Amino acid sequence: MPQHVRGVIAPGRNEPVRIETVVVPDPGPGEAVVRVEACGVCHTDLHYKQGGINDDFPFLLGHEAAGTVESVGEGVTDVAPGDYVILNWRAVCGQCRACRRGRPWYCFDTHNARQKMTLLDGTELSPALGIGAFAEKTLVAAGQCTKVDRSVAPEIAGLLGCGVMAGIGAAINTGNVSRGDTVAVIGCGGVGDAAIVGSRLAGAAKIIAVDVDERKLAKAEEMGATDTVDSRTTDPVEAIRALTGGFGADVVIEAVGRPETYRQAFYARDLAGTVVLVGVPTPEMKLELPLLDVFGRGGSLKSSWYGDCLPSRDFPMLIDLHRQGRIDLGAFVTETIALDDVEKAFARMHEGDVLRSVVVL
Ligand SMILES: NC(=O)c1ccc[n+]([C@@H]2O[C@H](COP(=O)([O-])OP(=O)(O)OC[C@H]3O[C@@H](n4cnc5c(N)ncnc54)[C@H](O)[C@@H]3O)[C@@H](O)[C@H]2O)c1
Ligand SMILES: [Zn+2]
Ligand SMILES: [Zn+2]
Repeated sequence: MPQHVRGVIAPGRNEPVRIETVVVPDPGPGEAVVRVEACGVCHTDLHYKQGGINDDFPFLLGHEAAGTVESVGEGVTDVAPGDYVILNWRAVCGQCRACRRGRPWYCFDTHNARQKMTLLDGTELSPALGIGAFAEKTLVAAGQCTKVDRSVAPEIAGLLGCGVMAGIGAAINTGNVSRGDTVAVIGCGGVGDAAIVGSRLAGAAKIIAVDVDERKLAKAEEMGATDTVDSRTTDPVEAIRALTGGFGADVVIEAVGRPETYRQAFYARDLAGTVVLVGVPTPEMKLELPLLDVFGRGGSLKSSWYGDCLPSRDFPMLIDLHRQGRIDLGAFVTETIALDDVEKAFARMHEGDVLRSVVVL
């Protein structure tokens, strides 16, 4: 029997979100219904609401979640009802050209639920990143459920489902930050701070945090930044060079997603260094760079989709490191809120008040 649950809907471009009744079908073959216990508010949810991702309104927002599997459809063997899981947006297919080449973290054909969740009038919903977890229950592909140890609270564990994994992965997987590296992180929200945590974990010798908000810089220091740069008052490229012997950082992680910050990242890295773009731009943004500089500065310019993570490998590992006290995922949770407070959480995100607001259900 399809179930009726409460969910947060973005009805149209820039319209306020509202709570609606969502119809969740029984899981079909390869699908699972998950009782959502917590779901973080990520900047990407705001991008969806603003129409910055695509126009497939209405969206069922929320995609950074942990919960318990309630039921599974035919043929599902990897997870079972009662399992505590983090939801992921990279259920790898095993069949596409990336998977076949042994690079499943790039999978080009990731799985989502085949059936649609709908409004009561039958309108089909587009779940954010194929998840849609600002809802009491959601329908996903079973491969989107990664089983982890229940000892970590859902408001903490769920953050690995997107922003924290994207940031840590941008540093350790995409950027390949290694012992002794100098790293700069531009934009210290949830994703940027996670990149700082990842860089520290990897043994970076210097981690320079850049933001336009003093509160974010103070928090970045708590997360492991060794130096901070307020780019409203200081040229970040010059500051990063000054802090790295005049050369620039080995790895610069851009966690804002804007042309001007990308340009800063490009010029703030050392020769043959690496730029990692983990911030998500919007369709109208353009970047112009002298091609000779692209060539002459060498190195690599990379994008980091979801921190190039493999959920089945990386989520349980990071949960273990958190349980051992080697990373503190709890430090990302600024506040826990109710489902009705998502619009307010967007405003607070916009004001820069929070790292993560997490909806607890
Ligand atoms: N690549 C991925 O897989 C992935 C996953 C999750 C989120 N993201 C993206 O990462 C970005 C950051 O997400 P978040 O949740 O941390 O957002 P956030 O709003 O919490 O953080 C953004 C930070 O950037 C700072 N900032 C804004 N303009 C700046 C500028 N000009 N210079 C320096 N700092 C500036 C803000 O003060 C804030 O601290 C977003 O674009 C989001 O969509 C990407
Ligand atoms: Zn694949
Ligand atoms: Zn996200």
